Amino acid sequence: METAKLEKTENAEEIVIRRVKGSEFNQVFELVMDAFARARAGLTGLDVRRRRRMARFYRLVSGFLSLFDILHIDFETVLVAVCGDKVVGEVHVVPHGRRIWSIESAAVDARFRGRGIFRNLMKEAVGYIAQRRGERIVGIFLTSTAAAAKVLRELEFEIFEERSLMHLEIRETPLFDIKSDLSIKALQKEDIQQVYEICKRVDQTRMETYKFVPEDLLDSFASRLRKKIASIHSKKWVLHRDGKAVGYVSLTYTSPEEAGNIEPFYILPSENSSELASVLLSHVLNFLWTNNVRRVLVKLNKDYAETIEVFLRFGFKHVAFIGDVMKKPAYENHTETN
Ligand SMILES: CC(C)(COP(=O)(O)OP(=O)(O)OC[C@H]1O[C@@H](n2cnc3c(N)ncnc32)[C@H](O)[C@@H]1OP(=O)(O)O)[C@@H](O)C(=O)NCCC(=O)NCCS
Repeated sequence: METAKLEKTENAEEIVIRRVKGSEFNQVFELVMDAFARARAGLTGLDVRRRRRMARFYRLVSGFLSLFDILHIDFETVLVAVCGDKVVGEVHVVPHGRRIWSIESAAVDARFRGRGIFRNLMKEAVGYIAQRRGERIVGIFLTSTAAAAKVLRELEFEIFEERSLMHLEIRETPLFDIKSDLSIKALQKEDIQQVYEICKRVDQTRMETYKFVPEDLLDSFASRLRKKIASIHSKKWVLHRDGKAVGYVSLTYTSPEEAGNIEPFYILPSENSSELASVLLSHVLNFLWTNNVRRVLVKLNKDYAETIEVFLRFGFKHVAFIGDVMKKPAYENHTETN
């Protein structure tokens, strides 16, 4: 990418935005830790050693970015705002296949806030993705973050879903009584069509936005590799009633220090959805308990009152609202493929 120049600071140093260099990853790591991780450590837990390992891995891979450009291989990277040799802001840009990219975890050094660095990082990230002929940009943000809400509106992102972020400290093994017509099994290839139908029924906009296809339910080689590198374990379970899939959940967890993450959690609407949701959730919480993970996060569409009610009954607490946003970047001859 071209280097974008921003304002000059009082001591006449320019702030420039460009792709990260390998030697800057430690600074990016510290910046992200300061901006997010420490503030949210109580909620998510924090395994600093694991994050450091990942930062080291990205530093290694970043050496190949120019080669990936030449070969037209999309790879995730970080755009940084740099003042002199100091990284003062950063944003992650991540390709997800099918020309869909996400913009994630933007942060600006507290001493450099309020100077438009975030706004410019976001503009450059959109430009970077357009240059790579990305067709859709997605992102999530806490709706209470005023700067994000403002800049995303300016850049014409639209909110396609609002979710409640909920949190639980698991203090006991939930009672788990499963009726004989119900069963919970790991997701198998033969389930994917039925599970895909549940996903579409419950969360159609998300499925369309991410151009989700049934095969996406099974991890690709690349995503298995990514999880291995980041030490992310995952479980996907299907709830069956009389042999028919009626619920689906995916759980990721890393180390006992960090919170597990339930996403998505879908139950086919019916008159006993609440009971089905309770059974599936009990299964997940029992699993986490057995694996010594004592806290967990979930994001649930804020309109799904019945499911939210079940999570509240299990002791989950609402933490914040999250906006899921989407934008189609504009560039010449932009025709969207489906
Ligand atoms: C959120 C964050 C990235 C903003 O960075 P920043 O460089 O200070 O933001 P900008 O200077 O580009 O501000 C963009 C707009 O938001 C406004 N804004 C910034 N911070 C604000 C705040 N705390 N409250 C209200 N408005 C705010 C600015 O006034 C500006 O609008 P204006 O130019 O019309 O005045 C930074 O505060 C941060 O790193 N926070 C912690 C990490 C985080 O929450 N990241 C979430 C990103 S999704």
